[in-house]
Amino acid sequence: MLWNVERGTAHATCIPTAGLHLPLLINVILFVGTSFELYCSQELPSSTVKSQENYEQHMSNMASTETSSSSAVTENQGKRTAIVTGAARGIGKAIALRLAKDGYDICINDLSLNQAGIDEVFLPISSNFIVYDLPIYSYNFQTVKEIQALGRKSYGHTADVSKRSDVEALVEASVQNLGPLNTMVANAGISQVKSVLEMTEEDVSHMFEINVYGVFNCYSVAAKQMIKQGNGGKILGCASIVAFRPFVNMTHYSASKWAVRGFTQGFAMELAEHKITVNGYAPGIVGTPMWEMLDEKLGEKLGAQKGETIKQFGEKIALGRLSVPDDVAKCVSYLAGPDSDYMTGQTLIIDGGIQFS
Ligand SMILES: NC(=O)c1ccc[n+]([C@@H]2O[C@H](COP(=O)([O-])OP(=O)(O)OC[C@H]3O[C@@H](n4cnc5c(N)ncnc54)[C@H](O)[C@@H]3O)[C@@H](O)[C@H]2O)c1
Repeated sequence: MLWNVERGTAHATCIPTAGLHLPLLINVILFVGTSFELYCSQELPSSTVKSQENYEQHMSNMASTETSSSSAVTENQGKRTAIVTGAARGIGKAIALRLAKDGYDICINDLSLNQAGIDEVFLPISSNFIVYDLPIYSYNFQTVKEIQALGRKSYGHTADVSKRSDVEALVEASVQNLGPLNTMVANAGISQVKSVLEMTEEDVSHMFEINVYGVFNCYSVAAKQMIKQGNGGKILGCASIVAFRPFVNMTHYSASKWAVRGFTQGFAMELAEHKITVNGYAPGIVGTPMWEMLDEKLGEKLGAQKGETIKQFGEKIALGRLSVPDDVAKCVSYLAGPDSDYMTGQTLIIDGGIQFS
C-alpha cells in the first residue's frame, strides 16, 4: 500500500506491493502528521476570519442581550406587587400567601358579595357551575389579614374578571394601594360537568366568558399597565392538565384551558420586547371546593359514591397522592420569581405525574 498525501489529507491508494518496508512506512506516517499540522496552522483566508469575528461578535451580543433581558424582568423592581384573581380560597389563596412569603405585597381579588346573609353558603349561579356568590368580604379580609401577619401589605378588591371594566378598575386600585404592578396571576376559573351532547351554547359561552375572556382581560390590562411603567413584569395564567388532554364530560372546560395556553404563547411572543414574560401553570387534581363539586358531578355520571371518583383519579397519580393548593403555589412562586426570568410562553404541568408532556 502506498500513500498519496496532498495538503495534509491522506488518501489511501491501494497498490499491491510485494512487501512493506517498515522504516519507510514510519517515515511516511511522520510526513503525513507534519503536513497535517502545518495545514491546520495555516492562516485562514481573510473572509473566513471576518465571518468568524462577526460570529463571535454576534454571540457576545446575544449573550449580553440574554443577560440583560433575563434579569431585567425582575431586576430593579424593588418592592414587588402581585394581583391574584380568584384568591379568596383554594389555589388562588395558597398562591397569594406564598407570594406574600416571597416578599410581595398582594392584591386579593374575587367575586363581589351580592347577597347579604349567606355567610359560608355557596350559591350556584346556574345548575352545576361552580360559580358562587361567596361571602367574599370575609374571605378577602381573612386572607388579607393572613398576608399582613406575614409583614406584607395586602389589599382586597372585588371584581368579576369576565368584565373588562372590572379588571381595569382592579389593576388601577392595586397600583393605587400597593404601588406599580409587577406580577399578574390570572387564577380565577370555573368548571362544569356535562357531556358534549348535553352541553348548550350558553354553557360554552359562560365557561369561555370567565376562563378565557377573564384570562384575556387580566393579561391584556396588566400588560398595558406594565408597559406604561416601563420596567417589565410577569404575567401568569391558570391552565390545567386538561389543556393537554381533555377530561371526558368536561370538554368545554378543557377547551377553555387550551385557550389559556394559546393566549399564554401569543402574549409571550408579543410582550417579550417589553421585558414581560408570560407563562401558565397547569394543576392536576387539587383538593379545593372545585374538585369537591367535580367529584360529586362526575360521580353522578359514572355511578360512583361521593369521594370515590376523586379517589380513583388519585390512584392514577405517579407520586401517589392528590395535590394540595400549596403544590401549585410553589410552582407559581418559581414562575413569579427571578429563577424563571429566562422562561416565557410555557405552561408548566404540576400534577404529581398524571400528564406527561
Ligand atoms: N382544583 C383543581 O383540581 C384544579 C385543577 C386544574 C386547574 N384548576 C384551576 O385552578 C384555578 C383555581 O381553582 P380552585 O380549584 O382553587 O377553584 P375554587 O372554585 O376553589 O376557587 C376559584 C375561585 O375563583 C373565583 N372566581 C370564579 N369566577 C370568578 C370571576 N368571574 N371573577 C373573579 N373570581 C372568580 C371563585 O369565587 C373562587 O373563589 C381555576 O382556574 C381552576 O380552573 C383547578
